[in-house]
Amino acid sequence: MNESQYAISTYPDVEAIYTRLKALTNQPIRPIRREAMADVLAYFDQKCAKSKALTDEAKQYIPGGVQHNLAFNYPFPIAIEKAEGAYLWDVDGNRYIDFLQAGGPTVLGSNYAPVREKVLEIVNNCGPVTGLFHEYELKLARLINQYMPAVEMFRMLGSGTESVMAAIRAARAYTKKKKIIKVGGAYHGWSDQMVYGLHIPGTGRMEATGIPRGANRHTQEFFPNNLAALRRKLIANRLRGGTAAVIVEPVGPESGTRPVPQDFNQKVRELCDEFGALLIFDEVVTGFRLGMGGAQGYFNIKPDLTIFGKCVTGGYPMAGGVGGKREIMMRFAAGIGGTGERAYIGGTLSANPLSCVAGYYALEEMERTNAAVIAGRAGDRLTLGLQAIIEKYDLPFVAYNQGSIVHLETSGVMLLDLKNPLKTLKEIKSRRHMIEEMGAAYMSQGLITLAGSRMYTSMADTDAVIDEAVQKFELVLSSVDGV
Ligand SMILES: Cc1ncc(COP(=O)(O)O)c(C=O)c1O
Repeated sequence: MNESQYAISTYPDVEAIYTRLKALTNQPIRPIRREAMADVLAYFDQKCAKSKALTDEAKQYIPGGVQHNLAFNYPFPIAIEKAEGAYLWDVDGNRYIDFLQAGGPTVLGSNYAPVREKVLEIVNNCGPVTGLFHEYELKLARLINQYMPAVEMFRMLGSGTESVMAAIRAARAYTKKKKIIKVGGAYHGWSDQMVYGLHIPGTGRMEATGIPRGANRHTQEFFPNNLAALRRKLIANRLRGGTAAVIVEPVGPESGTRPVPQDFNQKVRELCDEFGALLIFDEVVTGFRLGMGGAQGYFNIKPDLTIFGKCVTGGYPMAGGVGGKREIMMRFAAGIGGTGERAYIGGTLSANPLSCVAGYYALEEMERTNAAVIAGRAGDRLTLGLQAIIEKYDLPFVAYNQGSIVHLETSGVMLLDLKNPLKTLKEIKSRRHMIEEMGAAYMSQGLITLAGSRMYTSMADTDAVIDEAVQKFELVLSSVDGV
């Protein structure tokens, strides 16, 4: 691994992070002081009137008022009308530093002009879709193979969710085995079989409303980083139809909210080989964000299958794909050259020219500009700034990063688990509400985060942008109880 090519400059001290996270969840919450929170709510009342009117009306036509999980902000969603580089502007004219990054895809910064121009060119020429083959499908697949040699073949799909579904289907078709093992708490999209052990480890079917038991009968979860538990499942599965695949997010579930030790992926690889299970890397977030070689390049692991999303189209629509070993990928062969054991997949808009051209030029630009590494250094700078604030005010909060993925845990809600169900059930509501308030407070200072606890940085985050952000974070973090 050559660090100059990857976003992670130094691998975080995972043990030290868990020690701090444990201390955080073991103590009472430190929310924003009530009078400071009144100011936060006043910001939304006084400065976001147009957003409020729009989302109030949207509640009539759209369940909950917004279409996207990430837009469910407290006290109400804000409507964005302009995006450029490091910034977003809402319909009321307020400017924000954007650390949501649309959930991760825009490593080049928002609305990056060189890619936009190529997209407009293709739309002008042939529109967004024809249903027939386009040269950029080949160009994108070839480029991905160049950066990630384990991705011998690539099949583009509409989203990360779809790509996980496809990978599981191919894994079962190829291995003739049934079980899929995931890490508790990890999110791999919202397909029937993957809404299992979501967000909080050990919760199994807790979120599986509307999903029949049979649909995730063959899905299993093991506690994050517990390789002995994974081994036990692999052994038990030998008599229950076998393990088709183990799927991991290589930095740890939820973009590394529970980070993995540096040798974790290698150990999972070895276990998969021992038990004849495929290893699926979910690189929806890490793919190209950690560097052009993705997490597989950084950790130097060859997964059997890789899931793509987000960055694979540089933030343009229909971001998804699955890639991997030729003999497995041939299960997806459409038409001529199929193996006769087809794992059925489809999608009217999958691999449309717009998505392919956007992906191709986004990746080329990322390589040319070294965007992942620049974004990673911005993540380092932001993390150092946050850590200094935490130390200055003697806060129990925890900031760490894996390159351009930055975590700021203030309530620890994502760190609760079902090892201690009484504590979790008792505290989940207040810890969740605290993080909603933190998200609102950051926003009132002009900072957009993901769910109040995660930030993605981009190439557009210059030192000046990060330094401004750190000052704004300080205003919020110094307004919590007990400071
Ligand atoms: C690790 C991971 N896998 C899968 C998905 C699902 O991807 P999509 O939202 O494109 O369906 C996500 C989405 O955030 C993700 O973070």
